Amino acid sequence: MSNTKKFEVLLELAGEITREKEPENLIPLLADMVKNLLNVDRCSLFLYDENRDVLFTVVAHGKVKIEVAPNRGIVGASFRDGVPLIVQEAYADPRFNKEVDKQTGYVTKNILSIPLFNTKKKVIGVFEAINKIDGDFTDEDLKLFQLLSIYAANTIEASTLYKKIEDAYKETIYRLAFAAEYKDPETYNHIVRIGFMASTLGQKINLEKALCNKLQLAAPMHDIGKIGIPDRVLLKKGRLEGEEIEIMRKHTIIGYEILKDSESELLQMASRIALEHHEKWDGTGYPYGKRGDEISVEARIVSIIDVFDALTSNRPYKTAWSITDAVKYMEELSGKDFDPYILSVFLENLQEFIKIKSKYKDEI
Ligand code: C2E
Ligand code: SIN
Ligand code: SIN
Ligand code: SIN
Ligand code: FE
Ligand code: FE
Repeated sequence: MSNTKKFEVLLELAGEITREKEPENLIPLLADMVKNLLNVDRCSLFLYDENRDVLFTVVAHGKVKIEVAPNRGIVGASFRDGVPLIVQEAYADPRFNKEVDKQTGYVTKNILSIPLFNTKKKVIGVFEAINKIDGDFTDEDLKLFQLLSIYAANTIEASTLYKKIEDAYKETIYRLAFAAEYKDPETYNHIVRIGFMASTLGQKINLEKALCNKLQLAAPMHDIGKIGIPDRVLLKKGRLEGEEIEIMRKHTIIGYEILKDSESELLQMASRIALEHHEKWDGTGYPYGKRGDEISVEARIVSIIDVFDALTSNRPYKTAWSITDAVKYMEELSGKDFDPYILSVFLENLQEFIKIKSKYKDEI
């Protein structure tokens, strides 16, 4: 490829790269860039998994996913020694791991292999360009590949850090929601499964993916207002009566007060759900008697999930109902308590919800 042509490819892909915001989509873009610029048949990007002591591919053009021991192959040598390697004749090199070709049915001719370093100068993986289409790898290929590898390593490190922060943040939300229901007594799994069931139902009614991801974290906070309900009501063994019912109903408003006025879209959604999850489709719910689509779609989803989960779980005031009884009861409430469309989608996919429920069952 002429230098002018290379420059064009570089510019075009740089444009795509700056438009792409998701780190996990950037890596395949970078791999395509390497493939085009170095004029190779394919690229593989390996990352090191410390827990399992393997190098695994996150990108492997046209190949199945590969896992190799870090003491094997050219890729292993690059990884261990932290050095780039140019191998013009793979089958003539004793370090070459023929097993990979055997597994994939591919014939490797030559390999350019570059270690990926994190900002602490630790090797986190290896980037390989395989089978140069027009002859041998050159020093220019090596320099260009090293440059792109720095960019790939930075992207991977940033996305790993981002994922760690996101995981901690998700867990904090679950634990806070759990704290609010700790006395109730709810289990941690109750919180997790409400989130999964709500986001699954959101997907089934074709809400946007980003909205469903928020729903997974917002739904578990629906009863956070129970933190403000006195124990004599919250922990009562028998049925609630009169004034107790009025007090218990305040958990919707208390939850809303705790969560409202945040800049975060996630918390805004959570505040709507806390406020509206006991509203009913026909307007007979609480606290405001909203009806139909005056009730946010997130709250209409959570009310179905919450009642299904509550009916089929033990509570201090009742024992669990069977799935059959719960479904029969809920079907009768279509168009009364529940949005008939969303309920019908829930019931069509019942098996999936039962699966989530049993995956995150209460351990007693
Ligand atoms: P929860 O236990 O999470 O129940 C959520 C919703 O599931 C309830 O909203 C209700 O719509 C439905 N549900 C749960 N169990 C039953 C049941 O045995 N029969 C029927 N028909 N529906 C059921 P609801 O009624 O607005 O209650 C809100 C919260 O108030 C409940 O949350 C629970 O914490 C509390 N609560 C409700 N009834 C009683 C009661 O009789 N005794 C006590 N101690 N607490 C109650
Ligand atoms: C090797 O690094 O020895 C083989 C790995 C591959 O073919 O991708
Ligand atoms: C409540 O309104 O939250 C108490 C439950 C009931 O209505 O029996
Ligand atoms: C929606 O409102 O987005 C779902 C359709 C419905 O609630 O009936
Ligand atoms: Fe509630
Ligand atoms: Fe609830």
